[in-house]
Amino acid sequence: MTTQTIPDIILNNGVTIPQIGYGVFLTPPEETEQAVREALEVGYRHIDTAQAYRNEAGVGAAVAASGLPREEVFLTTKVWISNAGEAKAARSIDGSLRRLGTDYIDLLLVHQPFGDYYGTYRAMERALESGKVRAIGVSNFYPDRFVDLAGNVDVAPAVNQMETHVFNQQVDSRPWYAKYGTALESWGPLAQGRNNIFTHPVLTRVGQRHGKTAAQVALRYLLQRDVIIIPKSVQRERMAANLDILDFSLDEADLEAVAALDEGHSLTVDHRDPELIGYLATYQVEED
Ligand SMILES: NC(=O)c1ccc[n+]([C@@H]2O[C@H](COP(=O)([O-])OP(=O)(O)OC[C@H]3O[C@@H](n4cnc5c(N)ncnc54)[C@H](OP(=O)(O)O)[C@@H]3O)[C@@H](O)[C@H]2O)c1
Repeated sequence: MTTQTIPDIILNNGVTIPQIGYGVFLTPPEETEQAVREALEVGYRHIDTAQAYRNEAGVGAAVAASGLPREEVFLTTKVWISNAGEAKAARSIDGSLRRLGTDYIDLLLVHQPFGDYYGTYRAMERALESGKVRAIGVSNFYPDRFVDLAGNVDVAPAVNQMETHVFNQQVDSRPWYAKYGTALESWGPLAQGRNNIFTHPVLTRVGQRHGKTAAQVALRYLLQRDVIIIPKSVQRERMAANLDILDFSLDEADLEAVAALDEGHSLTVDHRDPELIGYLATYQVEED
């Protein structure tokens, strides 16, 4: 278990979020409880799930089994496109609460900028008012969609969760989010393994100076850039290694070397690709 304190980021509504969390995208539902139990044992106190991952119940079971007081674990989930629209989204938030086994969600995000996400966001604002949620935000909102939403709603998004890693650093996008006090949260902080990140020569060389791996350098870089990160691993040793990034610091030369890896575009999916948007519209999750 990590002996270092995980730093907090203060969101634009005063809620604090641990800057390092643990993600469960693609973790099979039947393996999620065990994985999250281990993540909590290793020292994570922030878990990122989504209705679309179909594993919220496993997250809830792990938190319950951990014996940790509820307020010591920060829980994020996301409303999926098939639950978009004010009434449907409101029902789906109650479903998420039930599956997570909790009476509040710390951070609730619109998962994708598709479907009736204005209706979804209104339902989230109501959930915030009624105390079912402590903070609300969005995910995958590129600056155009982001500014359109943020400028037309009552509650500015606390977070935008975007594909962010050393090869896609969101440099041009960040000022748009900052304009609304919106924190950048990284999904895919390890680039989902792309570009040989785990053996990348620049990251490896920087890591050798600090006795750290390429993965640890990639994660540490995001921390020093004030990005919230939620690396995913189902392997306990990797969970621990991904958290073991608090006892070293990248200097200016290191930061410059890693900054130069930025390609300025996604390595995974293009949220402006009509094929993708059409496919996502067909993906259904539980409505309750
Ligand atoms: N909002 C969205 O649309 C969205 C999209 C994608 C992800 N997310 C969130 O972001 C979280 C993180 O992103 P991600 O899971 O896509 O990708 P990621 O964290 O960048 O990478 C995860 C992959 O890297 C491997 N890995 C992790 N740590 C490693 C290490 N130290 N050494 C070698 N391999 C390692 C994992 O394998 P093993 O598990 O086998 O270790 C897994 O294959 C997700 O779990 C999810 O919560 C959100």
